[in-house]
Amino acid sequence: MNPWVLRYEGFDPASEGRREALCTLGNGRFATRGATPEAGPERAPGTYLAGCYDRLESEVAGRTVSNEDMVNLPDWLPLTFATPGSAWFRPGGARLPEYRQDLDLRHGLLLRELRWQDGAGRVTLVRQRRLVSMADPFLAAMETTFVAENWSGPLRVRAGIDGDVANRGVARYRSLRGDHLTDQAAGAGDGLTWLTATTRTSRVAVALASRIDAPTGPGEATAGAAEVHTDHVLDLVQGEPVTLTKVVALVSSRDAGVDDPRAAALRRAARAPGFGVLMREHVEAWQRLWLRARLDVDGPQVSQIVHLHVFHVLQTLSPHTAALDVGVPARGLHGEAYRGHVFWDELFVLPWMNLRFPEVSLGLLRYRWRRLPQARKAAREAGREGAMFPWQSGSDGREETQTLHLNPESGRWLPDNSHLQRHVGLAVAYNVWHHHLATGSMPPWAAELLLDIARFFASLCVRVGDRYEIHGVMGPDEYHDAYPGASSPGLDNNAYTNVMTAWLLLRARETARLAPALAPPAEELARWDDIARRMRVDFHDGVISQFTGYAALLELDWSRYSRVRRLDRALEADGDDVNRYKASKQADTLMLFYLLTADELLEILRGLGYPADHGLIMRTIAYYLERTSHGSTLSAVVHAWVLARYDRSSSWLFFTEALLSDIEDVQGGTTAEGIHLGAMGGTLDLLQRCYLGLEVGRGELRLDPLLPDQLGLLSMSIRYRGSQIFIDADHRRARVNGVESRVFTEEKPIMTRTSDLGRRLVHHRERLGLSREQVAERAEMSAGYLGYLEESAEPPSSGVLYRLAEALQTTVDDLLGSDVDRPPGRGPAMAHPTLEVLQEEECLRLISPGGVGRVAFSGSHGPTVLPVNYKVREGAIVFRTAPHGPMDEDLRTGLEGVEIKVGFEVDRIDEARHEGWSVLVQGAAHHVPPEEAGDLAEAGISPWAGGARLLYIRILPTQITGRRIHGL
Ligand code: BGC
Repeated sequence: MNPWVLRYEGFDPASEGRREALCTLGNGRFATRGATPEAGPERAPGTYLAGCYDRLESEVAGRTVSNEDMVNLPDWLPLTFATPGSAWFRPGGARLPEYRQDLDLRHGLLLRELRWQDGAGRVTLVRQRRLVSMADPFLAAMETTFVAENWSGPLRVRAGIDGDVANRGVARYRSLRGDHLTDQAAGAGDGLTWLTATTRTSRVAVALASRIDAPTGPGEATAGAAEVHTDHVLDLVQGEPVTLTKVVALVSSRDAGVDDPRAAALRRAARAPGFGVLMREHVEAWQRLWLRARLDVDGPQVSQIVHLHVFHVLQTLSPHTAALDVGVPARGLHGEAYRGHVFWDELFVLPWMNLRFPEVSLGLLRYRWRRLPQARKAAREAGREGAMFPWQSGSDGREETQTLHLNPESGRWLPDNSHLQRHVGLAVAYNVWHHHLATGSMPPWAAELLLDIARFFASLCVRVGDRYEIHGVMGPDEYHDAYPGASSPGLDNNAYTNVMTAWLLLRARETARLAPALAPPAEELARWDDIARRMRVDFHDGVISQFTGYAALLELDWSRYSRVRRLDRALEADGDDVNRYKASKQADTLMLFYLLTADELLEILRGLGYPADHGLIMRTIAYYLERTSHGSTLSAVVHAWVLARYDRSSSWLFFTEALLSDIEDVQGGTTAEGIHLGAMGGTLDLLQRCYLGLEVGRGELRLDPLLPDQLGLLSMSIRYRGSQIFIDADHRRARVNGVESRVFTEEKPIMTRTSDLGRRLVHHRERLGLSREQVAERAEMSAGYLGYLEESAEPPSSGVLYRLAEALQTTVDDLLGSDVDRPPGRGPAMAHPTLEVLQEEECLRLISPGGVGRVAFSGSHGPTVLPVNYKVREGAIVFRTAPHGPMDEDLRTGLEGVEIKVGFEVDRIDEARHEGWSVLVQGAAHHVPPEEAGDLAEAGISPWAGGARLLYIRILPTQITGRRIHGL
């Protein structure tokens, strides 16, 4: 088994849905299911643009319901072919001596190879490569190569775009409207075809343009009302391959810098490179992603699934996503289940993202922040304060949870109370806090988000006796939405919600310290403290009660429902009600042990005045484990986690189940409707935070590995507060950057000059004729880490460099490339750079270590730019210059009392990686008065040009701006 390739042999119409979802290709901006390009009833094609929703009303059970869906966009895949005299090829029913489909995870390609025997015995080999470009997020392409194996003659090929599509991917939604596209138009010209459509109510204009590269030219185009295609005739000569490529651009009116999506799509399709270059750039982009995301485990099967999960998480949420206004869709961009809505599943995905792509996490948190006004309005309307986030969120942040849902087992439409899952806000706040721990940064808007959520939860609390209570909510276990027989929904004191509220209010206090301008008034803080000490938690039988009154529920006869995952549906179909029983859909109380370390949880419970010890945790786990049907893929993730330290073999079974969630479709038919992104992200986070025991603290990382026996070696690279760290661990040892250790303390990374450290390491190793293992042994590090350094060129710590230099019989300077004088500007620009606007706080962080910058001012001899060696002192830029030198002279020419405005720029451009940043400070320059210069002397500011430059100049910033340029 190849750990990087998911292989399907044969064509099986019955499992096409699952294959389509699992073979989806995407780039974080849009994704296309792995449907066959040819027609067939088994096909459920889907192309989804992140954040593109549309709302329609439908009549169900005598009521009008409104649903917002992630829109299925026009299908760009159609391509079929016919041998002389035969009908258009479709795989269903065709004679296929060979049919294989490979999802290449490393390179982000979907490959298909088939041999088709037509009615006349002609055998044609068809090879297809498909991509949705990770390098250019507007492009997708499919290359098809035909070989006539035992015949020669004309092969007709038809390639098109189909705009007659609707949201039809989920059977139980089919009685609801899904015809979201309207105003379709299509046409052709200048060797391109195009199709446009508009979403019905959100009025998003979407345009696709396609170019066919074929030896016989662009083909004969025919445009219908909602479809366009080109016809081609390829003259096949037996045994000689002929290739035809379809390159497609997808643009919408939601894209920045677009006024006419059709014109933009046509432009992009026209100037897109051919398949070879497109693929190379795409593969390079994936290579860069894998360097940041690599997570390797022993064993090809586990390893393959881990790669698959990383792959699908990154196809849904990539660096391209960071700049978009989108959240974490529960089922990826891979299908229509849950309508592309955003639930609490980000809780399972962001902790993994934070340590690899913190900028993507930040973008996803911004999706929530942008909807803060809506969440505040919702809180106000519910008579609360702060921000109440919806259980299901879509385009504008209103509550999107359906009011009725269909029980497919009874055929009845039932009230849906799941919007009472207020805990979704806790997930958002948890992610804000953990992003802060991983990056050290807490932008003011993020602090505002956390504080407003805290405010909401505090306002939910009502004082009853000497405790605070939260009434009328639902926990993550969606089976329990009301007390048996109650006339209104909701439960009191869901333990998960209550304890996490106490946690949140403690974090809110810390957040207020980080963002003093947003700090709540003293009385509000005092109430938060009070709640954090007096929240109510119920207990029964020596365990934490899921909610008040749980103890009085009946025990279910589990033998009657063994292996039934959706007990709610089964019981309702039997005329019963799951609310009557001690039966949970998924982990609820146990979520506490998932999110909090045992020590953290015990501290909170004791702080609340409840006696709590490890025994309580163990008993509670065992209790709910027996009473859970695992009707959500998230359940296995959480159970694997909470059992990891108490019952390792059961933990492994749950982990295996979580790994198999989609690849084996453990919930029975749900994968076809979209992957389970939370479970995918959760398995990855489980490997790092649970099995490796990675604890992300304030300025420090700790490892406490307890790997399952089946895992052997686990290695990964992470980014923590600006440092790139490589971790590998087995059962006995954990290594940080190749050296045995369980702690990593924040440190300043070393800046290499050329960042081709990796190549230099390989060069010296080969020069000495040594293997990686030999060099690693000499340098006292793991071979895995050396391999990582050779491939990724991430700067290690100085200790590591010294040991490597010694092992390779060279100098640190040489390894860092400081003996190489590169002419400026030699490196070409990056193929598809991403330009990120930096916030002032980040700019200050970047320039604060000091170094070389350039001062620009309007000098007496014209515009002048001079390099200076600067330091940052009390928010000002300070450097030295010579009295009566050009700067001194020019700065003195200012009239008395008039400040001279200067520009000051610092940049760090890495030519080898074509990455870097620049920060521009604008402000007034002053001479530092002699009485203050004395203090500065201690700061050790040395002049760039050496010598006696005794004059200190200070720039007081009025504006600080910056940009970072990076690839994917
Ligand atoms: C689970 C929720 C989850 C949702 C979306 C439901 O089945 O119970 O916890 O957020 O699916 O993945």
